[in-house]
Amino acid sequence: MGGTPKITIVGAGLMGHGIAQIFAAAGFPVSIHDPNAKVLAAVPVRVEAIMQALGIDVALAANIVLNETLEEAVEGAALVIEAAPEKLELKQMIFSELDRLTGPQTILASNTSVIPITDIAAKAGNRSRILGTHFWNPPHFVPLVEVIQTAMTDPAHIVWTLDLMTEAGMSAVHVKKDVAGFIGNRLQHALKREAIALVADGVCDAATLDKVVREGFGARLGVLGPLEQSDMIGLQLTLDCHEVLLPHLDNTPHAHPFLREKIAKGETGMEAGAGFRKWTVKEADEVRKRFQDYMAASARKRRNETENTHQNARLVAR
Ligand SMILES: NC(=O)c1ccc[n+]([C@@H]2O[C@H](COP(=O)([O-])OP(=O)(O)OC[C@H]3O[C@@H](n4cnc5c(N)ncnc54)[C@H](O)[C@@H]3O)[C@@H](O)[C@H]2O)c1
Repeated sequence: MGGTPKITIVGAGLMGHGIAQIFAAAGFPVSIHDPNAKVLAAVPVRVEAIMQALGIDVALAANIVLNETLEEAVEGAALVIEAAPEKLELKQMIFSELDRLTGPQTILASNTSVIPITDIAAKAGNRSRILGTHFWNPPHFVPLVEVIQTAMTDPAHIVWTLDLMTEAGMSAVHVKKDVAGFIGNRLQHALKREAIALVADGVCDAATLDKVVREGFGARLGVLGPLEQSDMIGLQLTLDCHEVLLPHLDNTPHAHPFLREKIAKGETGMEAGAGFRKWTVKEADEVRKRFQDYMAASARKRRNETENTHQNARLVAR
């Protein structure tokens, strides 16, 4: 990769500022744009807070330039990552603007959670430079990014983007087909569908369900993927389990009525004091803190391990 490419982030909300932090911390020049002036102005403070939590020199936050207009933000960018709200028409409008404002060498990526990249690219002229870069929340703590190829994406742009993500310290995977939800969110929502169905059916309450995941098979998921686990125990057991179990799994082809009822009753989650279960402010804060502390500690550990590996490689090279 020649020179240090400039990265532009479009949308400075929850995901956008975290993605900007990743590239700034890795030494890339970053531009960020958001039509909401308050959100844009908050980026430096939010980025410095992440850097402090990760033990990164906060001076690196100066790699980020705030831009009030999209046109200024994309000037000279090698890669533009869109992190605007999850609305198809809005994303289509942004991509046709990006297509108009940038030269053919600029790669345009969406951080959409589930919308096929092909749909997002539908109104752009040059679709060969459009692909997906799906980061996870919080992007500065979760190592994975899915790089999604459409039928029209130039494969060379996929290779370049995978290399760039690795250089920025991310763990990048290639999603070879543009399927809704890509890999991670298909798996995550298949699990959520069954979780909601079990609670709706009265098999257990929400707290029990979460405990079974966290302290049961979830306890090993960070070190053993489901297919590795199947291979480890032997495929015959997976086949035997599937023959009995699969006909009983929920296959509702749309959002479960139980979820819709909750939302209709105003039980929309922690902020509302109730979602799948009731939440006091203290309980909700404890869960948020548990999550933040765990994720930050894991990210710091990974950074230290990477630093040690680099130091050892330098010693060997001497
Ligand atoms: N929140 C998550 O857990 C998560 C995880 C992975 C991917 N994503 C995806 O990332 C994207 C952003 O999600 P988020 O959670 O950061 O949302 P967010 O609401 O926190 O941030 C979106 C930002 O986009 C800005 N915006 C609105 N219109 C814009 C425009 N025309 N141009 C540029 N910016 C505009 C908003 O002002 C806002 O600051 C979505 O596609 C979402 O599905 C979210």
